[in-house]
Amino acid sequence: MTDTSTDFTAGPLDRDAPTYIAGHRGLVGSSLWRHFESEGFSNLIGRTSSELDLKNRDAVFEFFRDTEPQVVVLAAAKVGGILANSTYPVDFLSENLQIQVNVLDAALEQRVSRVLFLGSSCIYPKYAEQPIREDSLLTGLLEPTNDAYAIAKIAGILQIQSVRRQYGLPWISAMPTNLYGPGDNFSPEGSHVLPALIRRYDEAATAGAESVTNWGTGSPRREFLHVDDMASACLHLLEHFDGPQQVNVGTGEDQTIEEIATIVADAVGYEGRIEWDTTKPDGTPRKLLDVSTLRGSGWEPTVGLRDGIRTTVQWYRQNVGHLRE
Ligand SMILES: NC(=O)c1ccc[n+]([C@@H]2O[C@H](COP(=O)([O-])OP(=O)(O)OC[C@H]3O[C@@H](n4cnc5c(N)ncnc54)[C@H](OP(=O)(O)O)[C@@H]3O)[C@@H](O)[C@H]2O)c1
Repeated sequence: MTDTSTDFTAGPLDRDAPTYIAGHRGLVGSSLWRHFESEGFSNLIGRTSSELDLKNRDAVFEFFRDTEPQVVVLAAAKVGGILANSTYPVDFLSENLQIQVNVLDAALEQRVSRVLFLGSSCIYPKYAEQPIREDSLLTGLLEPTNDAYAIAKIAGILQIQSVRRQYGLPWISAMPTNLYGPGDNFSPEGSHVLPALIRRYDEAATAGAESVTNWGTGSPRREFLHVDDMASACLHLLEHFDGPQQVNVGTGEDQTIEEIATIVADAVGYEGRIEWDTTKPDGTPRKLLDVSTLRGSGWEPTVGLRDGIRTTVQWYRQNVGHLRE
């Protein structure tokens, strides 16, 4: 898509500007909130979904007129693992489209100066060359189990690019790899692979189980980024990056699922056997993002995987009685 120039100037955001973090109670949003607060932002705005349902277009426009945010990070979305995505595809398509169209349209009406839209690495073709470069978007077929969610996110990227082209506003998009950390969804139905492993191995450790069996061979490789690194990357991009193409956010390194399971088992103190049911499917052999755009803009992650998993396990244990389901 052709791009026009925007009015972006690299540099610190105004710490007193009204800054709306949509989805501020979620995994990403709560980390963004903590990070922005620690970076001195004094005028953060957040609403829970029961206070403001972002599917309600009139309410979203009214909220933007009342609060007049100057910066928006869109971290509100209907998010889930493979089971939820493949069982409820129309919910993932429709709710995400509604949320993003409402928020981005309302932000446009207010001419919000800086918007960051968050998508996901599942927007890329199933058989994209690894590591996955940003320009592989729309070059092949999607993974069918989450294509509805991915199409909604691709529409969001296009909306950001279209606003840039039509109005010259410096809005941007970021596509994180698999995230994990405090505040994650650990529910059996809704969770992603890492929180699911933490829950499974913690329960096995508590029960003194002799073995835990995981699906597949354990050989697929996956990349994981701690959510606090994600939050710092978001602020970094808002302050240093401008461009129409979505930016990959990850570590640039991957591990096998077997390695991840072993790190999780160590972190929870599980001493039984780790077994693999090789009759079950493995999924894509590798999913690693090319993060050279982000690295080239001067950002790098700081949380190591072992440390990140250890502190996430601590958080899980402290919160196990009141986790979201
Ligand atoms: N988790 C990952 O591994 C991962 C990986 C790549 C990309 N991402 C992206 O990061 C973004 C945030 O994901 P997350 O993992 O932080 O998800 P999450 O923990 O499920 O949080 C999503 C938040 O969105 C809010 N929300 C959902 N529907 C809403 C509605 N109708 N109105 C208002 N708020 C609504 C929820 O608010 P309430 O709590 O108030 O209900 C929730 O706090 C998403 O765009 C996702 O695609 C996540």
